[in-house]
Order: sequence, then structure tokens, then C-alpha cells
Amino acid sequence: MKILIVGATGVVGRHVIPRLLERGHEVRALVRTRDQATQLQRLDVQVYSGDILVSDTLSPAVSGAECVIHLATAIPRNLDRGDWTMNDRIRREGTRNLLVCAAESSTRRYIQQSIIMLYGDYGNTIVDESASLQPSPYIRSAFDMEQQVRESNIEWCILRGGYFYGPSTGAEDAWRELARSAKLQIPANSGAFVSLVHVIDMSRAVVAAAEEAKPGSIYNVVDDRPVSYGELYNFLARQIGAPDPEVNQIEAPSLGCSNNRIKADLGWHPLFPSFRSGLVW
Ligand SMILES: NC(=O)c1ccc[n+]([C@@H]2O[C@H](COP(=O)([O-])OP(=O)(O)OC[C@H]3O[C@@H](n4cnc5c(N)ncnc54)[C@H](OP(=O)(O)O)[C@@H]3O)[C@@H](O)[C@H]2O)c1
Repeated sequence: MKILIVGATGVVGRHVIPRLLERGHEVRALVRTRDQATQLQRLDVQVYSGDILVSDTLSPAVSGAECVIHLATAIPRNLDRGDWTMNDRIRREGTRNLLVCAAESSTRRYIQQSIIMLYGDYGNTIVDESASLQPSPYIRSAFDMEQQVRESNIEWCILRGGYFYGPSTGAEDAWRELARSAKLQIPANSGAFVSLVHVIDMSRAVVAAAEEAKPGSIYNVVDDRPVSYGELYNFLARQIGAPDPEVNQIEAPSLGCSNNRIKADLGWHPLFPSFRSGLVW
């Protein structure tokens, strides 16, 4: 298949590319800089210069692509104090631009990366894809993005990813740095759940969806076992011999998600069923 990735140079994109190439797909990437173009060309990726926010630049890349994968994002480093404007624009304007372009060309399948955080706080309930969404203001644009995709006429699939960790995500490095300096703090509701996904499993899900997703499907892409912050942070600290994390005063939203649907429909199973096999010290 001819497959276009928008966001090919990102954490997930870089893991997706070799998997698609290995499986014999012709991979295209929309890129913004010359250096990225040179790097991707070395990997046998066809590069197209463009920007998801500039609709005119999309047609050459989308034209003739049977599958389009939207992985672009611009999440600020500081989630609380950073500027979310560009991320909101990518999710709203960028998604609209890409959907319009894909609808006008021969695209058969459109894959939209999204986030399980849209579910909000579900306490001890493990949620599947039918649960209602309660996005916080920061991620409202991801809700709008999904809505645009759902309302489009092309054959779409939405992948709601869990919290990424694994090579090149920086997640475990950040956790360990905090643990070493005794700043890794367990939320007051220490039993609150978080649903993780190893980035290799996330990229395997993107490939499976590109090849086989049913039209109009939504999948949680998470590992097999939601974990409590208490268990995860204590494990991380013990793994590197750091002090036991303290419990702070602030509660965290609790979100544990099920991956039953993607297993049943796409035959996807995580290589890393939980952080216990995925978090290598
Ligand atoms: N991190 C998590 O825990 C998590 C969890 C669930 C879902 N997700 C979602 O997974 C997806 C991929 O995340 P990621 O971690 O791979 O992101 P990332 O590493 O930040 O990569 C973002 C990609 O988007 C591209 N991009 C940014 N602005 C663009 C624009 N205007 N036009 C075209 N491309 C643009 C970037 O290109 P440049 O190299 O040019 O900047 C880069 O390739 C996102 O939708 C994210 O929201 C993330």
C-alpha cells in the first residue's frame, strides 16, 4: 500500500516507518525541514515538503496515497504552563485540512491518532471505547479533532493511545530523574489508575490499523493492565535504588482502559503486557 504519514519524524512516527517498510509498504512522509527530508530519504521514505496547517502543501503528498496516517502534534513541554495554541491548531485546522484533502483524493483509509485522556476520570471503572468523553480544557481540541474525523465521509479509524513509555519517549528517563531526586510523588489517591502503552506496541497498532482497520472503528491502544500510580512509582524507584516516593496532597484523575476491542478486531496483542516487562533499567 502507498501510505502517507503526517508526523513521521515524531516519537511514534519513527517507530512506525521501519515496520511499514519491512512489511513492503511504500511509505511517504510530509516533512517541514530539509534535514528531516534527508534523513527520511536515507530510509527509503518518499518525502514531501509541507505543513498540515497549509492546506495547499498537502495535495501532492496525499494524492495517490491509499492510506493516510495523522500522527502530528505539538504538545508543550510544560503541560500546565506551556502554550497549547499550536497543538490546538494542528488538531482542529490541521485535521480538517488533511480530511478534506484525503476525501478529494483516492485515500481508502484514514488513521487518526488520539488520546485515552479524553475519557477523563473514571475512578475504579475500567473503560472501553463506548464510555462517554469528558475532556479537560487543555485537550478539548482532541475531542473536536475526533468529532471531525467521525463526521467525515472517508473510511476512518481512531486510535486512542495510552500514556507512552519506551525508547525515545523520554517517559522513564523523566520518572527516574524525579525518583533519584526524591521528587517522584504518588498522588493522594495512590490507587488511581494510569493506562500505559509501550511505544513499540503503539506503533504496531498503527501498522495493524493501516492494514486492517474496519471503517468507522475506534480503539483504545493500551497495555493489558492499568496500574496504580502507587505501584508504578514504587516499582520505578525500587528498580534504580531510589528512595520510596512520598505521597503528596493532590489527587490525580484515575483512568484505566480496556484493550479488548483492538485485540478482537485487529488481533493486536501487546508485546509488553505491562510496565513490568516494558520498563528496562
Ligand atoms: N505522548 C503520549 O503519551 C501520547 C499518548 C497518547 C497519544 N499521543 C498522541 O500520539 C501522536 C504522536 O505523538 P508523538 O509522541 O509521536 O508526537 P511527537 O514526537 O511530538 O511528534 C509530533 C510530530 O508532528 C509533526 N508536526 C508538528 N507540527 C506539524 C505541522 N504543522 N505540520 C506537519 N507536521 C507537524 C512533528 O514534525 P516536526 O519534526 O517537524 O516537528 C512530528 O513529526 C499525537 O497525536 C499525540 O497526541 C501521545
